[in-house]
Amino acid sequence: MVQIDLPSHHFEPRIYGVGAWTGHIHFAYDLVAVLRPALLVELGVDRGESYFAFCQSAAENKTGTRCFGVDTWRGDEHAGGYDETTFAQVSEQNCTHYESFSTLLRCGFDAALGNFGDESIDVLHLDGLHTEAAMRHDVDSWLPKLRPGGILLLHDVRVRSKDFGVWKIWAELQQPGRSWTFEDGPGLGVWQKPPSSPLPGFLEELLSPRNESNEALAKYYTGRAQAMQEKIAQHWRDSSIRNTPFAQQTVIQVFHTRDGSHCEEDSVYARMGHEGWKDVRIELPPSAGAAPLRIDFVSALTTIEIASIRLMKEGADYYSAAQKSDFDSITVTGDAERVPDPKFLRVRITGIDPQLHLPVLDVPSHVAPLVIELRLRVIV
Ligand SMILES: C[S@@+](CC[C@H](N)C(=O)[O-])C[C@H]1O[C@@H](n2cnc3c(N)ncnc32)[C@H](O)[C@@H]1O
Repeated sequence: MVQIDLPSHHFEPRIYGVGAWTGHIHFAYDLVAVLRPALLVELGVDRGESYFAFCQSAAENKTGTRCFGVDTWRGDEHAGGYDETTFAQVSEQNCTHYESFSTLLRCGFDAALGNFGDESIDVLHLDGLHTEAAMRHDVDSWLPKLRPGGILLLHDVRVRSKDFGVWKIWAELQQPGRSWTFEDGPGLGVWQKPPSSPLPGFLEELLSPRNESNEALAKYYTGRAQAMQEKIAQHWRDSSIRNTPFAQQTVIQVFHTRDGSHCEEDSVYARMGHEGWKDVRIELPPSAGAAPLRIDFVSALTTIEIASIRLMKEGADYYSAAQKSDFDSITVTGDAERVPDPKFLRVRITGIDPQLHLPVLDVPSHVAPLVIELRLRVIV
């Protein structure tokens, strides 16, 4: 029977709650602490939730690991686009805590390949664009860089919405080699490159055929994931969310619809930093309807000032609001309150689900994308 006495019992993450990786950061911490890899590479760093869990473990457990994080830091069609704030914040975090052993490579994944010898990487985490084609390309090009017996991590192995296809690659990979799938949230696949060789500590038990021990380990990590979710919920309840890493940026989620119903599947993300006025341009699919468009701000109890909103397709304007009277037709609902303002649409965010509904618009469906442009600033 496995003893659940893992290094992550004492893990106090510096970065958490900023992405989809929160449920796995304790496993990331233990993986590095116990395996003590010489070389770890992550493809797809974004705000660094997974990457800095690896780095924090390497630093606190003195594993001597050399870490590399690769990203364009521009976003992609699943993560959404984001501005320069992300790279600035990730660089600062890296520089402050991990500079002696961690390097950020700002480039495409293909361009980074030449930095690593064949069979040189001990832990490889692939978390870029999640379409089947992109993931297949990343696996095919990077797997030769992983040493035999090394560990590959694939994120989002359970997601079947939008055009996510990691689950297909994961199903194929599991045939050769030893693996474990964490089922929490979007899912994390852990795979040992064949030929298999014994792994230290809990990792050997985790990658053994399903048994009491790896079930107990999975339960432990589910417990840690739930505790993280509870910690974040408490931050919202007592307003301390304002002091967390999450509060450093605001996510804009635009829902499009032709029949009036809004769902996650038909939404597009963009993310912005809080340094003054920003011009944000978001492309929606050519088929997107605006009956009505809904804009949610995932933002830590801030106030948002919107100077203009414009909706265009093939150069033609379908909606434009740039002065006080124009904004009257926008409904502010959910966890948001309209604050009187002589010029702008000013909205106070009071919780996790603020919504703006634009008037219903008749937008034709043809090849060109529907584009929404916002000029706004976030006041913290
Ligand atoms: C899902 S996010 C990574 C999430 C991150 N691991 C975390 O812990 O939150 C995907 C990231 O991969 C990057 N990306 C996607 N495809 C890329 C490519 N071909 N080259 C470089 N970066 C890429 C995007 O810019 C984005 O930041």
